[in-house]
Amino acid sequence: MSLNLSKEEYKKAEEYRAWIETRLPIGKELLYLTQEDVRSIPISPEEILELTEKSLAAYSRKNADMPAKIGIHPLPGTFYHAMPAYAPEAFAAGIKWGSCYPENQKKYGYPQAEGLILFNDHLSGIPIAILDCIYVTEIRTAAVTYASIKKLASSDAKTFGMIGCGVEGRQHVKNIEKVLPSLKEIYVYDISKDAENCLIQELQGEVGAVIKKADSLETLVRNSEVIASATIITEQPEPKIKDEWITSGKTILLCDCHSLYEDKTVKRADKYLVDSIEQHELLKGYGYYPYGLPEIYAETGEVVGGEKQGRVTKDELIVCNNVGMAIEDMYVVRDLFDKALENGIGRKLPL
Ligand SMILES: NC(=O)c1ccc[n+]([C@@H]2O[C@H](COP(=O)([O-])OP(=O)(O)OC[C@H]3O[C@@H](n4cnc5c(N)ncnc54)[C@H](O)[C@@H]3O)[C@@H](O)[C@H]2O)c1
Repeated sequence: MSLNLSKEEYKKAEEYRAWIETRLPIGKELLYLTQEDVRSIPISPEEILELTEKSLAAYSRKNADMPAKIGIHPLPGTFYHAMPAYAPEAFAAGIKWGSCYPENQKKYGYPQAEGLILFNDHLSGIPIAILDCIYVTEIRTAAVTYASIKKLASSDAKTFGMIGCGVEGRQHVKNIEKVLPSLKEIYVYDISKDAENCLIQELQGEVGAVIKKADSLETLVRNSEVIASATIITEQPEPKIKDEWITSGKTILLCDCHSLYEDKTVKRADKYLVDSIEQHELLKGYGYYPYGLPEIYAETGEVVGGEKQGRVTKDELIVCNNVGMAIEDMYVVRDLFDKALENGIGRKLPL
């Protein structure tokens, strides 16, 4: 799909390219950013949320060139995804090559998600940066959940539940009060008690609501108005959350597909949303949704961009399934790349 820039946009793109050239000789060198480098780039939660909202809206307005991510699956339960995207509005093009090995922590002490992003000059195609993708994935994934919550949850919700207290779980809890400012209690649950303890130790000082360990999934689900999960994406759902625990009015945000929920729960939602219909259809083809997908009310970006309504009444049950999109990475990477050049962060490597 070709998305042509207007004359004026092309001029701005040329100006942006000229600005990069003042700091990085395109075609001769690229900027290499380690994970530590990426984490040191100054960017606020508000900026990350705004970039992510723009990316979601651009995707659903079809102002993005982003094929559904393709993958390879070397070992059972593992995958690599190739995630290319072009965001004309952000003059950003590139690809994320990310892997997910759920057993990594246990077997080798590595995180389950790893990968790199290759960022290109979209006017010439020349690679201009290679960066670790972990932090970008971490912050934009939580921001997608926040963007969804802003439109789909009651803004006066007092309780939030986080299932999975790993990298994504911690990042989700960290800034949740920016979108749910009335929170009083945050329930957390993980099969690893160490992970629960780490989250509380790291974040209780940063958030105002009381973070409580839920003694079971049932406790968390029954007590939380808004529930997010970031555990393990299983090729086939392995429901652990009983449908009867889920009352009307709840907002359920999934970073791990339908892994934990019963099919009847997602199918009885008053509104069921996905970030990309094309992407979830492809996942269905891979066998991730053996009982089929529920009827899709909207893409997340349609609601974030204001084309469709989000929550209308207090008692709607809403499920939003965001599996992650390269376009989100590209908006954030463009900003991080600019800031790294401005602040002299990273190493320039010869091409
Ligand atoms: N949607 C997206 O854009 C996106 C982006 C990144 C990661 N993810 C997904 O989010 C999930 C979490 O990623 P992460 O980087 O935080 O991984 P992580 O390994 O750091 O954390 C996962 C946590 O979930 C816990 N867990 C596993 N099974 C559980 C269960 N049944 N109940 C409760 N806790 C359980 C683990 O003990 C671990 O602490 C993965 O499935 C990953 O593929 C999605």
